[in-house]
Amino acid sequence: MSSSTKETYLHDLFKPCKSLLVFPTLKASDFLSLLIKAALVFCAVASISFVLFVAITRHPRFLPCPECNRVILSDHRKFDHDNISDSRKYFDGLNFEKTNISHILFGIGGSAKTWHNRRLYNELWWKPNVTRGFVWLDEKPPADETWPETSPRYRVSADTSKFKYTCSWGSRSAVRITRIVKESFQLGLQNIRWFVMGDDDTVFFLENLITVLSKYDHNQMYYIGGNSESVEQDVIHSYTMAYGGGGFAISYPLAAELVKILDGCIDRYASFYGSDQKIQACISEIGVPLTKEVGFHQVDIRGNPYGLLAAHPVAPLVSLHHLDYVQSISPEKTKIDALKKLFTAYEKDPGRIIQHSFCYDLTRNWSVSVSWGYTVQLYPSLVTSKTLETAFLTFQSWRNWATQPFTFNTRPYSHDPCERPIFYFLDRVEEIGAGRSLTTYRMFNDSNEKHCERGDYRLPLAVLQFNVSTSTLSPNSWKRNGPLT
Ligand SMILES: *[C@@H]1O[C@H](CO)[C@@H](O)[C@H](O)[C@H]1NC(C)=O
Ligand SMILES: *[C@@H]1O[C@H](CO)[C@@H](O)[C@H](O)[C@H]1NC(C)=O
Ligand SMILES: *[C@@H]1O[C@H](CO)[C@@H](O)[C@H](O)[C@H]1NC(C)=O
Ligand SMILES: *[C@@H]1O[C@H](CO)[C@@H](O)[C@H](O)[C@H]1NC(C)=O
Ligand SMILES: *[C@@H]1O[C@H](CO)[C@@H](O)[C@H](O)[C@H]1NC(C)=O
Ligand SMILES: *[C@@H]1O[C@H](CO)[C@@H](O)[C@H](O)[C@H]1NC(C)=O
Repeated sequence: MSSSTKETYLHDLFKPCKSLLVFPTLKASDFLSLLIKAALVFCAVASISFVLFVAITRHPRFLPCPECNRVILSDHRKFDHDNISDSRKYFDGLNFEKTNISHILFGIGGSAKTWHNRRLYNELWWKPNVTRGFVWLDEKPPADETWPETSPRYRVSADTSKFKYTCSWGSRSAVRITRIVKESFQLGLQNIRWFVMGDDDTVFFLENLITVLSKYDHNQMYYIGGNSESVEQDVIHSYTMAYGGGGFAISYPLAAELVKILDGCIDRYASFYGSDQKIQACISEIGVPLTKEVGFHQVDIRGNPYGLLAAHPVAPLVSLHHLDYVQSISPEKTKIDALKKLFTAYEKDPGRIIQHSFCYDLTRNWSVSVSWGYTVQLYPSLVTSKTLETAFLTFQSWRNWATQPFTFNTRPYSHDPCERPIFYFLDRVEEIGAGRSLTTYRMFNDSNEKHCERGDYRLPLAVLQFNVSTSTLSPNSWKRNGPLT
């Protein structure tokens, strides 16, 4: 590195990712300076391009962006076995076939009166005749309504009036929903490895759910899920439980133990508010702790979920919940249409959905943050990856609509357009050859707000679209440490 301030600065900027990134697969143009070549040592996950319409010449120019995408497989869990070599052998498929969709039995907590609306969320992910499981209702649906073929088949939960429920601010239906795991188990269906519980407004990302569950030995007792995002919720309910709306998975051997004690246990924890908390209390009696996976999302937030989704941790997206309670995930689209859009990208490359990578254009000092299949942010300045990976606080907490605290860090979201990036949202996704995709993101113009008129925003505002081409992320990428490619 020379003594130039620019180089020093960039050297410092990229230093943190240097040791983590090793895949230089860029299109480097001749005009890129030595300085940029230094930056090219760092990996590219995606090849990112943008169209720059220079107003004066009206000649669109295509320029490659020097990439420094960093995606680090953090929090990669190792199996908690006494004998690692045994478990390796196990997971290399010598002992049984890989976990697939047919090994999961879903138990969806629903009710006859609300299914009509909630099924819209369910039908985003449910695959009739492929996914196994039932939506459990409080009563038979009205006789004049035909049950939709696109929904899971329903079952009516057994009567729970003999159980105690003493939480004054909750609903007795929690008891019924607690028992879904037991009623599901007692159906005695063949070849079930995991019981996965969810709400009627939980959206699962099936391939990623399978990727996550495959990491664990289903012959052991596992209880897998995630916490609430809002600390106030975790304080009131518990940090040790998997929140039911985000969904959770119970391995077969654990379910077998749980059903033995569940009914008595429900009475012991009669004062607990929710079914998820009762389940955890019962599992605690068996002595199995929660295995936290960060891809399960209770979405206990209010307002705009953008910040949460655009800064997803590097882990497969497994579930989203409460999508009726938060604003649409994309502006100018209804809640359902915005999710359908996300699913168009998800279906092309499940593992990569909303995975975060960063890129720097060092000729202009721009930073680009890509949340694949969802959004792009363009900053007319160099922003460190540490900042980019932190969620914009576009939302509030679940109970108090407060700006803090959450179980992850946030950064302020300014209403001054000169204090924030230019936002782009997914427009289209297509396959370009074997195992590669091209996603296109279009600039979002907020009709309520002006663009920043400062000079450094002039050129970036001429970038109306981003094209991101990348290879499909293999589920195996999650099984090792190192950056995603
Ligand atoms: C980029 O940033 C460096 C360091 O802050 C500065 O020296 C340089 O002039 C900037 N380049 C442009 C094109 O703004
Ligand atoms: C682990 O398993 C291997 C082969 O199955 C065996 O030889 C070894 O003794 C085991 N190690 C421990 C610590 O149990
Ligand atoms: C899932 O694995 C089982 C083996 O346990 C196999 O019989 C079945 O065909 C597989 N199903 C799918 C959909 O791949
Ligand atoms: C599911 O399978 C049944 C029986 O095989 C068939 O009648 C039905 O049309 C299928 N439903 C869908 C949505 O594919
Ligand atoms: C956003 O505004 C720019 C002008 O600032 C305009 O050229 C562009 O077409 C607009 N994009 C959309 C999607 O409306
Ligand atoms: C971006 O992708 C679109 C297709 O979605 C294509 O028409 C356009 O030419 C691409 N632009 C660049 C600069 O690659």
